[in-house]
This record gives sequence, C-alpha cells and structure tokens, in this order.
Amino acid sequence: MTRAADFDVPETEDFDGPHALFSDLRGRCPVAWSNDLGGFWAVTSHKDAKAVLEDWRMFTTTIQNVVPPVATTQRRPPLHLDPPDNIPYRNAILRFLTPSRLAEWEGRIEQMVARFLAPWVAKGGGDICAEFSFLLPIALLAEFFNLPPADAERIRIVGSEFNMALQRQDFDTLRAKSDELYEIARSLIEDRIAHARDPDTDPTASLLAVRVDGAPLAPDLALGALRQFLLVGIIAPTTFIGSMAVHLARHPGHHAELTARPELISEATEELLRLYTPYRGFARTAREDTTLGGREIKAGEALAVVFTSANRDGDAFEDPESYRLDRPTRDLLTFGRGPHMCPGAPLARLLLREVLRQLTARTLRLELTSEIEMTRWPEYGPLKAEFRAIPA
Ligand code: HEM
Repeated sequence: MTRAADFDVPETEDFDGPHALFSDLRGRCPVAWSNDLGGFWAVTSHKDAKAVLEDWRMFTTTIQNVVPPVATTQRRPPLHLDPPDNIPYRNAILRFLTPSRLAEWEGRIEQMVARFLAPWVAKGGGDICAEFSFLLPIALLAEFFNLPPADAERIRIVGSEFNMALQRQDFDTLRAKSDELYEIARSLIEDRIAHARDPDTDPTASLLAVRVDGAPLAPDLALGALRQFLLVGIIAPTTFIGSMAVHLARHPGHHAELTARPELISEATEELLRLYTPYRGFARTAREDTTLGGREIKAGEALAVVFTSANRDGDAFEDPESYRLDRPTRDLLTFGRGPHMCPGAPLARLLLREVLRQLTARTLRLELTSEIEMTRWPEYGPLKAEFRAIPA
C-alpha cells in the first residue's frame, strides 16, 4: 500500500546521518512510514521496538523479516519461523554457546585477532573493513563450524559479493550469491551425512541430530538454517568494528583511556554497541490491523525494528548521544529481544571485546585518512574506512 511518506531513505549516507534522521523521527513521528525499500514502517523508539519484538503473535517473522525485502528465496530458520517452530533450530546452536563452551574460545579468539590485526598495524593501517574486520568473523565462523579451508575461502568471496550486491540493491546478483551460499551449506550437510560427526562438537551434526516428536528436521529447513548460520554472524561484526575504529579516531582521549585501563574494555564495548548498533532493518509483518505508537498499521505491512535508533532513545538511556561507561545496559537492544534474540551474542561480545582490547593495546592512535563509505539498510556502519594506525 502507498501512504504519504513520513520520511525518505537517503540515497547515500555518512557516518552521522542515520543517527540525525532517527533522532528527528523519534521526536516527531516515532513510528514512521517510508515508501522506499518496498514500503515499511520504521519503529524508532525503544518502547515500540521492544513491544514489536515481544509480541510475536501479532508481528511475525514468517513473511517479511528484513528491510529491504531481500530474503525472498527460501525460509531460513530460526529467524524465519515463529515460536515454537523456531526453538529446535535455536537449541541446535545454543548448546555451543554456553558459558563453559565459550570459555574454550577465549584463547583461540585472542590468537585469531592477533593473526589479523598485528599485520594491519605493522603496515601502518589501511581499510579496516576489507583488511581486518571482514576476515576475522569468517575465520571465527570457519572454526566454529569446522569448515574445510576451501569452504571458508568460498564464503569469504561469496559473502563479500553478496554484501556488495545488497549495498547496490542488485537483487538478481543477490539471489545468485544466496544460491551459492546454499550450495556451500548443502555440501556441508552431505559431508556430515557421509562422515558422521559428534553433535557435541559439530554444529552441523547438531542440527542433523535434532528430533521433533521423534522426526528429524525437514531437509529444506535444516539446509535453510545452516545457510542462515553461515552468513548471519559475519556482516554485523564487520561494520561494527569499523564503527569502533571511527569512534577511537574521533576520540583519542577514549582510546588513551582504554589503553591505560584495559579493565574498562567490557563496559566500553557495551557502550559502543549501544552508540553504533549495527542492525536497523530486521523486520516483522503485522498479522492483523493494529495500532503502534498512535499509528494505524494494516495487516501485511512490514515494520523495521530500528535497533540503531532505539538504543539512542532518551526515554531509555540518559544523555543518549554521549559515550558513558557508567550506564546500566539492561535495556540494550543491540542483539534484539524476545524469541529471536541473537543466540550468537555471547560469542560476538567475546570477539568484539578482544578486538577493542588489542586495537587499543597495539596502537597509540588511529587517524581516519579517507571518507567513510557506509553500508545501507538493513545494516549501519562503515563498509570501507581507511585509517593510519600509529603502533604502540
Ligand atoms: C555484532 C554482532 C551481532 C549482532 C549485533 C547481532 C544481532 C542480532 C539481532 C538483532 C538478531 C535478532 C533479529 C530479529 O529479532 O529479527 C540476531 C539474530 C540472530 N543472530 Fe546475531 N548478531 C551478531 C552476531 C551473531 C553471531 C556471531 C552469530 C552466530 C554465532 C549470530 C547468530 C544469530 C542467529 C542464528 C540469529 C537468529 C535467531 C533466531 O531467529 O532465533 N549473530 N542477531
């Protein structure tokens, strides 16, 4: 349906533009309609975002779950199924993310960050996204899923092409790249069927071992889940690490404080996850006509839950535009809320804290040396940002 637009999605954005737009929308129209990106409501206030995420009976993920509507190929659980259908898929991966399992990752993540960051710092910096923050989560994913090096390399190439197609909104290429990612997932499943692995140590084997009322998961949905797992944890860390670096370059005092006091890294990571929340376009579709934030939503309309905006809402966070390490973080929406809340959050936090620790330990200062090239919806953050890194 076409409505009078409350805002237009800009063709190009800079680092601060989205936050200025969302601040304006929260002030005058917290649930705002745009005719761009297929037509959608932007839910920008913390209260409304939380309400949408928690009311999964009214706001489903089974129809349109991302703005722009790119996920048109096949269903990918757990994100594309409502409770309780999503739960077995979540459980298949959650068993690898318990505190004791995460403890096993600490040393490995420390080494992985060093492997990619040390050469970047040694050569004086460069594009942090292409040369560091895109490579790191793929390496983590490859270890997490016990992928052979050739598959990890294919995901690196196809994942990058997929992201570029998304940025250009080139939907034909996007579908082709999504199909290639499906092929990688399919061959992984075939390998695990041919060569059984322990479901306690291999996430794909864990997915294949799930039984619901005694029956295995439907093959197309198990495949969709693996395809989702292979990409979902890559893009957000890539752009968010870029945002962390921009913040450090703009605030050398914060950089110096973290170098001197590494015990603040955990609070600083949470605060940066609030200020530069990397997702703004995860979406829901209204099942029935309803109202939200005083607006009448029609059945079938898409709503983007703008996490990037909700985390800067002054009704939820005091002095929301400032970097403060003493604020309560229980209301942080960076990793979502409700039945689809990110199961990878503890692993992501481990990785991001280690990145911030090593970035501030290995460098005295970061200086931005180029314009920042930004991602578009559904993400927020740099796609390309060049820095001079001054080694410690
Ligand atoms: C900075 C890093 C990350 C951020 C900000 C992030 C954020 C999110 C958010 C906001 C959601 C909820 C989407 C919704 O409600 O529509 C989500 C879901 C999900 N995330 Fe993450 N994520 C990150 C990293 C990861 C990693 C590393 C993994 C894998 C280990 C992962 C796996 C998933 C999965 C499987 C879902 C779907 C869960 C479901 O539908 O039940 N994420 N993520």
